[in-house]
Amino acid sequence: MVKGSAMFVRGSFLLAVSSALLVTSDAFVVLQPSARLHKSAHASAHAARRSECLSGLKMTAVERNVMKESIYGLKQRSNGDIWVPQRARPRRNRKNEGLRSMVRENRVEPANFIYPLFVHTKDSNEKIDSMPGCERHTEESCLREVGEAVAEGVSNIILFPKIPEELKSNSADECYNPAGFIPSLISKIKSRYGGSVNVWTDVALDPYSDQGHDGMVSTDKRGDGGKGRILNDETVEQLCRQALAQARAGADVVAPSDMMDGRIGAIRDALDSDGFTDVSIVAYTAKYASAFYGPFRDALDSAPRESSNAPPNKKTYQMDPANSREALVEAALDSAEGADMLMVKPGMPYLDIIKLLKDNTNLPISAYHVSGEYAMLKAAAERGWVNERDVALETLLCFKRAGADAILTYYAKQAARWLNE
Ligand code: PBG
Repeated sequence: MVKGSAMFVRGSFLLAVSSALLVTSDAFVVLQPSARLHKSAHASAHAARRSECLSGLKMTAVERNVMKESIYGLKQRSNGDIWVPQRARPRRNRKNEGLRSMVRENRVEPANFIYPLFVHTKDSNEKIDSMPGCERHTEESCLREVGEAVAEGVSNIILFPKIPEELKSNSADECYNPAGFIPSLISKIKSRYGGSVNVWTDVALDPYSDQGHDGMVSTDKRGDGGKGRILNDETVEQLCRQALAQARAGADVVAPSDMMDGRIGAIRDALDSDGFTDVSIVAYTAKYASAFYGPFRDALDSAPRESSNAPPNKKTYQMDPANSREALVEAALDSAEGADMLMVKPGMPYLDIIKLLKDNTNLPISAYHVSGEYAMLKAAAERGWVNERDVALETLLCFKRAGADAILTYYAKQAARWLNE
């Protein structure tokens, strides 16, 4: 199949040709001034081939005239073929999969994924409208899902609970109830799968907060916009209790997503002083006040509540999307306070931040491919506008290229399946 066209625009040529190389090199030849072509048997055979090409090119009459003009800088080989005198041709390293895969700089594997699971206390699963393919799992369904993920080579999962309204409060005390939903689920997962999976937990008050905030809200209205303040130090104390309850239940990794100042060091000390020096801390280091968390908040019913007291957004603790240098300040603190890994969140719109942390810190970096990013891919794929498998795997690979070692993604199990196919 020959496809292509040539046109004359203000004295210069624009040549759009498909990747059919042999044919296109012939197509270039016709652009040479005819006077310079040899009148030989070779040349007439060549001319015949050219006209075959031309018929395929569906040139218009105007374009035929235009082709008599010479093109500045292009040379001719001895046989009359067009020659771009170019020694370095990067395409040579892309010419077949054997070479491409040899020089490939990044690969994404199931081992890189952390699989987030929404869980609730009801006795059947519930679909999440804005996150097709994700569900709020019952305990039993969660256990099954963990098993399926592990079977695909995903050895890290993270739990996000939807907590019944009657257990929520401003101080979120349910978050450290040793008999609460999450501690009991952690111990069930650990007793069923033991060492074949790392159970990660979210450390933040929002699933347990009746204000829909990651921290406790003051009643003094001395905060942003005349609303309550998100109390930093009082919240850190709750987070320490929460992390400890999770560690006691068997959590392998605790991941504070709250963005309070000083919480990494405080949680490290709380864990260590209770004997949990082996429990890892993955710090949400650069967590932005992002609009991409919408579907997640639907899933957990955890959005900031409309009230005269609660601030309507999380901008006084999560980072401003306009900033990048602040991410370095956070990274320096989290590293110094004992974090084992640094997380950037959201992922796709923040690849520059992943790269920035990768280049300026020495801890592993993880990217959170958040709910809104997932929803966008799903929505476009459902409409047939993109190929879901290809865009999802490309997205995950791009996190690696940007510098992420680990990727927290709702696609984890599915992507692992695709990679294992
Ligand atoms: C809250 C938390 C959020 C997410 C993970 N942990 C929401 C928020 O900060 O409001 C969002 C994840 C996602 O959108 O997928 N501690």
